[in-house]
Amino acid sequence: MSNDTFPSIRLRRLRKTPALRDLVRENAVTMNDLIYPIFVEEDIEDALPVSSMPGINRIPEKKLAAEIKAIAADGVKAIMMFGVSHKKDATGSDAWNPDGLTARMIKRAKDTAPDMVVMADTCFCEYTDHGHCGVIEHGHVHNDMTLQNLARQSVNSARAGADVIAPSAMMDGQIAAIREGLDEAGFTDTPIMAYSSKFASAFYGPFRAAAGCELKGDRKTYQMDPFNGREALRESMLDEAEGADILMVKPGLPYLDVLARVRENTLLPLAVYQVSGEYAMIKFAAAAGALDEKRIVRETLGGFKRAGADLILTYFARDIGREGF
Ligand code: PBG
Repeated sequence: MSNDTFPSIRLRRLRKTPALRDLVRENAVTMNDLIYPIFVEEDIEDALPVSSMPGINRIPEKKLAAEIKAIAADGVKAIMMFGVSHKKDATGSDAWNPDGLTARMIKRAKDTAPDMVVMADTCFCEYTDHGHCGVIEHGHVHNDMTLQNLARQSVNSARAGADVIAPSAMMDGQIAAIREGLDEAGFTDTPIMAYSSKFASAFYGPFRAAAGCELKGDRKTYQMDPFNGREALRESMLDEAEGADILMVKPGLPYLDVLARVRENTLLPLAVYQVSGEYAMIKFAAAAGALDEKRIVRETLGGFKRAGADLILTYFARDIGREGF
């Protein structure tokens, strides 16, 4: 009888006790890996609950310092900042205004929690009156005009103290344009985390409410078609060649295959974004009594790690910091 199969081999031996299972577990998720996205709104007095994302509020700019302290006290070590602008215009110019919301919120966060990694989502959809991620010319988002603005926004965010610039506009050439802009302004050491494989996803639905995005129409001319995997590899490889320091796949759960394929094709750190719709599905199913929230969160984040993610952006980060899994 061969001894390379049952009954010599019994995989259940290593599952016998909790301590044994802990010893042979292949992946772990700690607070070191997690990035908590936050929404900061100007000119409001009180926190505004986002009804499609239970547990998530728009934070009033005036109360940002106190909120950052509370987030840090919960164990969060990195945040991704989104501004909810009241000064929207055709180009999203408030995003590169040194006195604008982007610059103010980044500076306030860094002043309040100098050790926190502050990441600047770098895009215009929260700052344009049409809700698109760039400049519109003849009814189309103009790639190359938007590039200049992304570089301006990046330099503005770096000046305000951002630790990481995270461009999510999905314009061609955006990483190279931002790298050049940062380097010219002296920010040679500011890393870029590229939202490199970003799909045109219905899973962003709740985010649009959270971020006060005015979009009519869709982003299919710049974000990727959800059916495409090879194209995601091309996007990732191009962003790496243009100088990205970290790559990202977004959304997470429906794109685990993309995550695994990008992992096999790069040596860069790799992030995954568990987006607003993924968060909402879990929250609402748990509220209905259909799922055990903590176990589901643990399992989804474990899946990201297994597929190859190093960093995970998740709206659950604060809960995990406070309560563990
Ligand atoms: C901005 C941006 C979006 C998200 C992150 N950055 C929305 C979009 O592209 O429409 C989505 C995040 C989420 O759904 O949690 N471009």
